[in-house]
Amino acid sequence: MIHVFFVCLGNICRSPLAEGIFRDLVAEKKLYDKISCDSAGTSNYHIGHSPDPRTVRNALQNMIKLNHKAQQFAYKHFHSSDYIIVMDKSNLDNIEILRDQQGLENVKIMLMRAFDREGENQDVPDPYFGGEDGFQEVFEILNRSCRNLLHYLIKEHQLET
Ligand code: 4NP
Repeated sequence: MIHVFFVCLGNICRSPLAEGIFRDLVAEKKLYDKISCDSAGTSNYHIGHSPDPRTVRNALQNMIKLNHKAQQFAYKHFHSSDYIIVMDKSNLDNIEILRDQQGLENVKIMLMRAFDREGENQDVPDPYFGGEDGFQEVFEILNRSCRNLLHYLIKEHQLET
């Protein structure tokens, strides 16, 4: 099983949406017995909370059902994840600090938009303090990036689809 772990700050906007989009793409390709995914936030702000209502609304408008409760990233996730996919450079800094504290040089941490040709390696913008439009922009970025991430994994692990 290849385990993909999405990370943002609060785990109520970007990373649960990435998880929902990616899970549906994996199901579409019937790869659910090969690839699994989960998500967490670097902060403890929203532990146990459902995704932000604006995220839930946006996901439903895009035919995605979210079923997640926010959790904070913990050391154990380094061991249960093959790919840690972070939404922005501040998430990257925070996770790299935790990784270095654990002496785990080999864990793969990648930016979500390393997989987005329209804005390679840019941050997935944080929509929390903005309006509803920001959530659709985030959806479109994540949708493109998740599709390319899945293609990358299929190729990298020679998965049959
Ligand atoms: P997320 O968005 O990292 O995409 O879940 C945020 C959610 C909550 C906060 C910031 C960003 N907050 O400051 O509470």
